[in-house]
Amino acid sequence: VDDMWQKAYDFAVEVARKAGEEIRKAGESEIKVMTKSSSVDLVTKTDERVEKIIIGSLKEEFGEDAHCFIGEESVENGEPCILSDKPTWIIDPVDGTTNFVHGFPFVAVSIAFAVNKELEFGVVYSCLEDKMYKARRGKGAFCNDEKIQVSDVKDIHKSIIISEHGTDRSPEKVTKIFSTMQKILCIPVHGLRGSGTAATNMCLVATGAVEAFFEIGIHCWDIAAGAVIIQEAGGILLDVDGGPFDLMSRRMIVANDKIIARRIIQEIEIFPSLRDDAP
Ligand code: IPD
Repeated sequence: VDDMWQKAYDFAVEVARKAGEEIRKAGESEIKVMTKSSSVDLVTKTDERVEKIIIGSLKEEFGEDAHCFIGEESVENGEPCILSDKPTWIIDPVDGTTNFVHGFPFVAVSIAFAVNKELEFGVVYSCLEDKMYKARRGKGAFCNDEKIQVSDVKDIHKSIIISEHGTDRSPEKVTKIFSTMQKILCIPVHGLRGSGTAATNMCLVATGAVEAFFEIGIHCWDIAAGAVIIQEAGGILLDVDGGPFDLMSRRMIVANDKIIARRIIQEIEIFPSLRDDAP
């Protein structure tokens, strides 16, 4: 079984690279933009096409029915979003669709693989920067084949924190998000950042460029691959209330260290979000 997942891991890296090449090419011609839940929740033909390429390649390699698939665009089109014990691929073909549409240079392909509800490996290809982040459980985390490690900063005052505001613009939520950001900024921390892709944000924690990233409203496909990368880079994942990380809960904090995570958690104003696996 061990070898089988190694093969799947290597194949995922190849597929992510191929998907990233498609995205780069697509970015050179005119991008047709459509909207999902609101006028700021964007999707493109590239999201749909690249997801089909990824799932098509995986099915061709591993068989039509042996594995399950949770993909952002498939779920949007009514496929279930339930993590069972079966080998399951969790895919975001284009993480940072808004960036992609605008030519803001952080766009990632995110591919994760879970068995018995446990994440085995994750691959995040930041395709415009050509950075291939990957990690397999127990085997370390890498960026372009170099080992990566979270930062060793323990003092929140010396940290950079990432947060995102997502695509829900209801005034109550935006108020809570910015109130949280204001409190964190005034701790004070060195800075607040955001790349516009959750997968890349997690990799930035994994490389030690920033100390933590949190968000409420993300989806399992944005964070599943990054979750393995963070853990293998020596970081931690928690729920925003300090409890255990839950992939389907649509909220999380990742950090280099629990002292930093706990300090941020003190400031996070939580608002409700429907679970990804809600019936
Ligand atoms: C989005 C990005 C963004 C995060 C949003 C996600 P998408 O993913 O990860 O950073 O703030 O919550 O939905 O829609 O571009 O795949």
